[in-house]
Amino acid sequence: MNKVKNIGVFTSGGDSPGMNAAIRAVVRSALYYDIEVSGIIRGYDGMISGEIISMNAGSVANIIQRGGTILKTARSEEFRTKEGRQKAFEQLKKHNVDSLVAIGGDGTFTGADIFIKEFNIPVIGLPGTIDNDLAGTDFTIGYDTAINTVVEAVDKIRDTAESHDRLFIVEVMGRDSGLIALRSGIGAGAESILIPETKTDVQSLLNLLGEGRRVKASKIIIVAEGDDAGGAFEIAAAVKDKYPGIDTRVSILGHIQRGGPPSCMDRVLASRLGIAAVEALRDGKKGAMAGVVNGKIHFTPFKNAIKHISETDQELLKLMRILSI
Ligand code: F6P
Repeated sequence: MNKVKNIGVFTSGGDSPGMNAAIRAVVRSALYYDIEVSGIIRGYDGMISGEIISMNAGSVANIIQRGGTILKTARSEEFRTKEGRQKAFEQLKKHNVDSLVAIGGDGTFTGADIFIKEFNIPVIGLPGTIDNDLAGTDFTIGYDTAINTVVEAVDKIRDTAESHDRLFIVEVMGRDSGLIALRSGIGAGAESILIPETKTDVQSLLNLLGEGRRVKASKIIIVAEGDDAGGAFEIAAAVKDKYPGIDTRVSILGHIQRGGPPSCMDRVLASRLGIAAVEALRDGKKGAMAGVVNGKIHFTPFKNAIKHISETDQELLKLMRILSI
């Protein structure tokens, strides 16, 4: 058993619902194993500037239901530099932090991987991102809440679309990943889903829209913000150009997808993974992300966890093609 004395926990990159539940699980399980916990505020930026606080069971009371992150978050530029990482390491030493739990996405794990190599400090990652774009876990913390937010919003949009016989182009988050669009689009019964992982053929989309009007006049197209054909406004312009008669509206859901109380699925996932991370550090693991694959806890080296389309996603891509108009 590794002698872990003080775990530093932090959130980094875009926040996601369930990060608080993950922090709570890390803090409480560490205390359960008689390990001290330090909260690092504002991710790597706070590590560099020494914004490090001692945490106890009470510090994480009443947060399991809250979206966002009590530890705040940032996308740190300074940590990308060797000098920044050196400063961060000095601060950790000063605060007696000997191990880390990093909650975030690909940028967070890329930074952690370099940090481990340079300073040999054990880091375990937890997948905290609404994008679900990490390999080595079926779902990331926050994804379930985000797609439910999208489905709820699209259900509402569909009511007004139907009343006015309108086409709605709904843009969802996902700068590099279409997984929010894909699953929420299937769940919301969208007529078409446009994602960055597949080449968007605007011409065939327009053809389908023309044919599809015979079936029903109101339609929903979900487009990921990072789609190769552009965002919702670009798609709407192409539609208006070809079919001036189609009453088209655009709705950008934006950051509402990142907030709100986490779903029960996200709270349970975050709780399981938080405990798994602490136990992994005790077992001497480092440089890996804890995830859940087929219901079981699974560890994946950071370099493999970053950006990968899994088998399940291929299946969803096929489903999308079958169910689209
Ligand atoms: O990585 C999560 C995410 O929400 C992406 O889906 C989105 O493209 C990006 O963050 C937006 O980041 P920011 O809030 O920094 O603009």
